Amino acid sequence: MSKRTLRVSKIKEGTVIDHISGGHALDVIKILGITGRAGGIVTIAMNVPSKTVKAKDIVKVEGRKLASAEVDKIALVAPHATINIIRNYRVVEKQRVKLPKIIRGIVECANPSCISNSNEPVQSTFYVEREEPLLLKCHYCGYVMEKPDVLKQF
Ligand code: CTP
Ligand code: ZN
Repeated sequence: MSKRTLRVSKIKEGTVIDHISGGHALDVIKILGITGRAGGIVTIAMNVPSKTVKAKDIVKVEGRKLASAEVDKIALVAPHATINIIRNYRVVEKQRVKLPKIIRGIVECANPSCISNSNEPVQSTFYVEREEPLLLKCHYCGYVMEKPDVLKQF
């Protein structure tokens, strides 16, 4: 982008979720439970040209840090995202999200008769068959879940 214009302002304190695949910012917003009605300042930029990819989305949440459970969920919908902690206008921490090969305990199997949904003490376990778009395969019943099945649970 040209230095003459700044598309979105820098923030003073908070978290910037950068390098979200273009068009997927709203998945991240959903995971963070942002409705806009809590009053905090949130900036969403969608389909912004980027050096490394065709287009990316950015979500800036002021005055807030993310819980590690939220970061784990973001990895499912934005496996290339970077999470930047901002303090006094500076990036004081930069973390790349990481999508493990095996996902345990974060999502439930969408197959109601799966053993992981029974009263047995079995933790949900999925293999990441494809990162983007997301495809998860249940270790127990083989059911294949896509991103909308996962987002429905968040
Ligand atoms: N940012 C912000 N407010 C600040 C500082 C940074 O909103 N006070 C945003 C930047 O606009 C960018 C992200 O946080 O979207 C990361 O900032 P920075 O590390 O400075 O940018 P890059 O070096 O381009 O990041 P990367 O190397 O991860 O691409
Ligand atoms: Zn299952």
